[in-house]
Amino acid sequence: MTTISTPGASLDVLLTPQDLRAALESDARAGLTATPKWLPPKYFYDDRGSRLFEEITRLPEYYPTRTEHAILSAYADDIAAAAGAEVLLELGSGSSQKTRLLLDAMARRAELAAYVPVDVSAGALRDAMAALRADYPHLPLLGAVADFDRHLGALPAPGRRLWVLLGSTIGNYPTAERRTFLSGLADAMRPGEALLLGVDLVKDPERLVAAYDDAAGVTAAFNRNVIAVLDRELDGDLDPEDFVHVALWDAENEWIEMRLRASRPVSGRLAALDLPVELARDEEIRTEISAKFRRERIEPELAEVGLTVERWWTDPMADFGLLLARR
Ligand code: SAH
Ligand code: AVI
Repeated sequence: MTTISTPGASLDVLLTPQDLRAALESDARAGLTATPKWLPPKYFYDDRGSRLFEEITRLPEYYPTRTEHAILSAYADDIAAAAGAEVLLELGSGSSQKTRLLLDAMARRAELAAYVPVDVSAGALRDAMAALRADYPHLPLLGAVADFDRHLGALPAPGRRLWVLLGSTIGNYPTAERRTFLSGLADAMRPGEALLLGVDLVKDPERLVAAYDDAAGVTAAFNRNVIAVLDRELDGDLDPEDFVHVALWDAENEWIEMRLRASRPVSGRLAALDLPVELARDEEIRTEISAKFRRERIEPELAEVGLTVERWWTDPMADFGLLLARR
C-alpha cells in the first residue's frame, strides 16, 4: 500500500487505478455476458459521475440528501453523544458535505481526534479533503482510496471509531450482497465501536420514481455515464446516446431499479477485453438498485451480524432514517 502524506493529512491508496481497472474488466466481462446484463454501480463515480451525483443531490425530486441533512442538523449533538467515538470513519464519503455536521458536533464534545474519509473515487476524495483542509485546519485527515467491498479490514484506526455510511448507499446492494457487506463490516468493527447508517424509507412509489427520473435529466446523464466509463477504460465504441434511462419501482423487492435500455440494436465492442457487446432493441442493462427500507426489516439484518440498534432518528414525514448500531 502507498501512503501519500502532507502536513496534517495522509492518503492511503489501497485501491490503485490499475486495481480499479482490473476490477472493471472482470465485472464488465461478467455483467455484459450475463442474461440479463448488469453492471455494478461503483463504476458510475469517475470525476464526471461524482459531479453528476452532487448535482442529483440538489434536484427538487431527490429528497434523500436534503432530508438526511435536516436530520443531521437537528440531531448531530445527540448522535455524537450516543456514539461516544473519537474518530469518524466514513465509507463512500463523496464530497463529505453532510459529514461536516457530525464533525462539528464531535468537535463540540472535544472528542474528535481524526476524520477518515473512504471512497473508491480518488478525485472526489482529494477534492473533499482539500476543502476540509481549508475549513478544518487542525483536524487530522486520514483518507483512504479503497473499495469497501474489499478493504474494510485495512482502514486506519487511530482511536475508537464511529463508522458512518450515509445517503442510503447500503441500498445499492441487493439483499444477499447486503448481508455479505454487513457481515464484513461487523467483522472489521472493534467491539464497542458504533455504526451510523442512513437508510431511505419505503414511501409513495410516485415520489420514489421521480427521485430517480428527474425532469432535468441529470439522473439519466449519471446513468449513461457508465457507458462513457466503459468506452474510456476498456477502449469501447458504445454510444451512450443509444441508451434510454429507465427507473422503475419493484414493489416485491421494495427497490428502485435503474436500467439502460437500448433504443436500437447495439453492436459494439470493448477492445481491451476483445469482447463484443450486442443488445437487441429494447434489451436492458441493470445498472443500479436502490433498496428502500423499513425499520422492522433492517434491524434484524443488523442483529444477524452482531450489530445492535441503539437509536433511531427520522424526519417528521418519516422519509429517511438514521440509526446507530453497536458492535
Ligand atoms: N456519502 C455521500 C455520497 C454518496 S454517493 C452522500 O451521502 O451524499 C456514493 C459514494 O460511494 C460515492 O462517492 C462513490 O464513489 C462511493 N462508492 C461507491 N461504491 C463504493 C465502493 N465499493 N467502495 C468505496 N466507495 C464507493
Ligand atoms: C449513492 N446512492 C445511495 C444513490 C441512490 O440514491 O441510490 C445513487 C443514485 N442513483 C441515482 N440517483 C442517486
